[in-house]
Amino acid sequence: MAWRKVARLDALRDGGVVGVEVDGTPVALFRIGGEVHATHGICTHALAFLKDGHVEDGTIECPLHQGVFDIRTGKALCAPLTRDLATYAAKVEGGEVFIDLDMSSIHLELD
Ligand code: FES
Repeated sequence: MAWRKVARLDALRDGGVVGVEVDGTPVALFRIGGEVHATHGICTHALAFLKDGHVEDGTIECPLHQGVFDIRTGKALCAPLTRDLATYAAKVEGGEVFIDLDMSSIHLELD
């Protein structure tokens, strides 16, 4: 486990998205009601930063071609997306948001 402090909770607007970089990895942070979620920060379709997307009903819409992901699961919900988005473990302690990049929904195989 490698929890990293990435933001203050009060920096996350309910229903909004914030982009951070963690160990060189772009990450999108979301606050939905009482929950905080983290996903990879770049769309799986092309080079678009999800921090610039639109959050609605637990989904994030990519700003470039309007592909939509489920924020909680990373599931790609519509074309042109063909690949799901990595999600990361997130927790809040003492008003700070922590994520663990090692606890990801998608593990890349590197040659
Ligand atoms: Fe996100 Fe195309 S870059 S849908």
